[in-house]
Amino acid sequence: MENRKEKPIETHEMSLSDYDISTPIQSATGLRQGLTSYGDAHFSLFLRKVFIKALGYSEDALSRPIIGVINTYSSFNPCHANMPQLLDAVKRGVQLHGGLAIDFPTISIHEAFSSPTSMFLRNLMSMDTEEMIKAQPCDAIILIGGCDKTTPAQLMGAISANKPAMHLVTGPMMPGSHRGVRVGACTDCRNNWASYRAGALDMEDIVALNDELAPTAGTCGVMGTASTMACILVALGLMPFAGASAPAVSSARLRVAEETGRIAVTLATNQSLRPQGLLQRESFLNAITVLQAIGGSTNAVVHLMAIIGRHPQVADTINLDTFDEIGRKTPLLVDLKPSGDNYMTDFHNSGGMLSLLWELKPLLHLDAMTYSGMTLGEELAKAVPLRVPHHLSCIQTLDEPLYPASSLIVLRGNLAPRGAIIKASASKDRRLLHHSGKAVVFKSSEDLSRRIDDPELAVTADSVLVLQGIGPKGNPGMPEAGLIPIPKKLAAHGVVDMLRLSDGRMSGTAGGTIVLHVSPESADPSSVLGIVQDGDVVICDAERRTLKVDISNEEIAKRQGQIRASTDAMSTERGYRGLYKRTVLQADKGADFDFLTAQG
Ligand code: FES
Repeated sequence: MENRKEKPIETHEMSLSDYDISTPIQSATGLRQGLTSYGDAHFSLFLRKVFIKALGYSEDALSRPIIGVINTYSSFNPCHANMPQLLDAVKRGVQLHGGLAIDFPTISIHEAFSSPTSMFLRNLMSMDTEEMIKAQPCDAIILIGGCDKTTPAQLMGAISANKPAMHLVTGPMMPGSHRGVRVGACTDCRNNWASYRAGALDMEDIVALNDELAPTAGTCGVMGTASTMACILVALGLMPFAGASAPAVSSARLRVAEETGRIAVTLATNQSLRPQGLLQRESFLNAITVLQAIGGSTNAVVHLMAIIGRHPQVADTINLDTFDEIGRKTPLLVDLKPSGDNYMTDFHNSGGMLSLLWELKPLLHLDAMTYSGMTLGEELAKAVPLRVPHHLSCIQTLDEPLYPASSLIVLRGNLAPRGAIIKASASKDRRLLHHSGKAVVFKSSEDLSRRIDDPELAVTADSVLVLQGIGPKGNPGMPEAGLIPIPKKLAAHGVVDMLRLSDGRMSGTAGGTIVLHVSPESADPSSVLGIVQDGDVVICDAERRTLKVDISNEEIAKRQGQIRASTDAMSTERGYRGLYKRTVLQADKGADFDFLTAQG
């Protein structure tokens, strides 16, 4: 409460000096920063004011700290449908505290409206975000995102732009109901679709479910990628505690938005809290601890590696092994789908991130900095969570975890020398975490959809389903096709899980014993995944962190030689797709573009 009366950076009187051509423009704040190049700074500022006054602003308004608000509203993005209300509340917060809020658009990405896949556009959105933050005269930025790829793209861009920045997410949607059972996007989309495929649901049910799975605005209401990234933003110190879980359609969400406006004005007056200074290695270690404790999305591993890769001081200090090391000492505490049974509204009602961080305190770096200028430990000390009776809470204690450790595991071996990820906590048949079986190989998503339900497919419940060709370069954007469906003939006999692996991703809302992000991907000439053939024996041992194929090094080299001869190493395609294929990094580096990383 002590910071409620921030002074504006400059006064109305001072702004008159903008017209005094006898002295250089004194400050680089507000409208005076980042002037358009006309060779005459005073004229550039004069012209800027001419045009912005067309919108009705007064000199007084224009002398205030300018808070740029990134507006990702799109009629193709229902996860951001509450953007107008959030903008109102954010602007109220900014203006109540002496700032001037100016919103501007960037790309908006929704999972279901992005072809070939939303991940293909994440780096483009990060470039848009970075360059528009740099180009426009803002003293601080509020990044409003929500749907899976938007928040990582915004943070990647914000770290690279390095202006003071706050995140605000649109918040999770409410659950719906079908035949008296709560349902919600998108874990239940996938589970029910699998049941429909297996013949356990009829068309009447699947049509009714189609109306109920996403009943309100907001992001998917389970611990998918959007919710995971929202929790991570709190752990990083970039968002208030309630910011991760307050429902999209709640008054609590609007109060978070108003509060975010206030905080942004504070950040504008304290330019020292820029992303590259605020975020330190310990901030990211806290984020990884939270990721493991919530049973978060595997996508968050890729996003965090890309985000970390943007930070000049942290980039080389964290790799995939860091995720595994932290996972070994972090239990799963949050009982949410797809690892558990509940929805984000339950997490919010259980105290949300404040309660979780309190529980995790012994595992956190409490000296990590937050948006307030206070450490995480100081923030937690002044915000003791309400106690929720144990039986009503979906947040477990460290003494009684849902899963003892390692929700997300990093595997290595000759099949994945640069690593692969498995979400052990979402396995539906944990015996498969230690399994070997004969590979049934699909060369691409198209091959998979053509043959997976073929009654003649030579597959048993012990087979290992291998999908090639869906890595960052091989299928630009690394689609979420890693959730290989159970072959219909096995599903019809009650098989609900099999060991499956690919170089692609999987929705954070999905579950099963599924190895993802195999690096290097099969399209890379050095890949071993790319030379696996039907009948090869694949061995996965999550306990030992190994993923192998039982063929000799000589045989691997021989098969790679045959493939290499037909590999087109450098794409000559035009446009963004060509840029993507030429510059995208492998999943273990976050699938960022090589020229966007801190090293450039
Ligand atoms: Fe937007 Fe799931 S589709 S968060």
